[in-house]
Amino acid sequence: MVKKIGILTSGGDSQGMNATLLGAIRTGCRLGKEMYVVYDGYKGLIDNNFVKVGPDFMDQTYNKGGTVIKTKRLPEFKEERVRKIAVENLKKEGIEALIVIGGDGSYMGAKKLTEMGINCVGLPGTIDNDISSSDFTIGFDTALNNVVTAIDQIKETMSSHNRCCLIEVMGNKCPDLTLFAGIACKADYIVTADRPLEEKELIESLKKDKEEGKDCEIVLISEKLYDLNELTKHIKEQTGWDTRNDVLGYIQRGGAPTAMERFNSIRMGSYAVELLDQGIGGVCVGLVNNELKYFDILEALDFPRNKHLDLYKTYDLIK
Ligand code: ADP
Ligand code: F6P
Repeated sequence: MVKKIGILTSGGDSQGMNATLLGAIRTGCRLGKEMYVVYDGYKGLIDNNFVKVGPDFMDQTYNKGGTVIKTKRLPEFKEERVRKIAVENLKKEGIEALIVIGGDGSYMGAKKLTEMGINCVGLPGTIDNDISSSDFTIGFDTALNNVVTAIDQIKETMSSHNRCCLIEVMGNKCPDLTLFAGIACKADYIVTADRPLEEKELIESLKKDKEEGKDCEIVLISEKLYDLNELTKHIKEQTGWDTRNDVLGYIQRGGAPTAMERFNSIRMGSYAVELLDQGIGGVCVGLVNNELKYFDILEALDFPRNKHLDLYKTYDLIK
């Protein structure tokens, strides 16, 4: 039976990571495990940067954004030679199991470590909601709330000045933050990888709105798709709208986790320890129809992305 369990956060930080740590650490201690936090993601495994912690370790910080045990990206972890150092360091300390909170890259690291003798459980930590094996990722709900708050605020200025604003939303290649916020804020237009921009069409629609005396325009655009400044210029020149743009940026990734985020994060952290306690590893946890499930990591990484076509329909019906 596993006695010592490590836990790390990897890839981009997300709100709820700290609450996940609390769920795992408290559960582990309650089940008689020795719990170790690993600082700096996979890098901490190479640097021997891990510390044994007690059940209260997260009590003052579990409700904060970011990750108190830090996160790093370590591209070299793809090399077996580097992972061998990690495995040796863990084994020297008697740590036989690891919880990895991160995105799909981090999941690959967890899978490979499992193959090298360290049982790993991956938890979906990213604001992007781009882990197909979970309906929601740790951080998504809070980031969505941040986006919605920001849009509401931007809209007050846009309305006061009768302006049009193009707002860039994070998500890497996943449209979910844009799509969900589009519905929650009743955005005038949304542009995502699944609903690409037909510039001519958008300009025609904005022109028509202007002629009909519309108050202001909010256009949500997923990041990494278009040159926002160029598009702003074209809209300004061709529609009559005084047009601005706003890149929401890291404000989306910060802040205290919402109640739902905390709730699900704590559940996931706790569940990961239960799985390891049962000797289950090489898996990742997902929230599916509000139930916690686990899947083989490689199979899960192959799950098709939910394109939420039903939600585009809803958006079209309510906008
Ligand atoms: P995310 O986990 O959010 O997708 P990254 O893709 O940056 O973020 O991955 C986080 C870290 O996971 C990387 O910096 C690297 O240390 C590790 N990693 C990514 N891909 C692999 C891989 N194929 N094999 C082993 N480790 C990997
Ligand atoms: O994966 C989370 C995320 O915030 C993406 O939405 C964004 O594209 C990326 O990370 C930004 O990464 P970085 O921290 O390297 O700027």
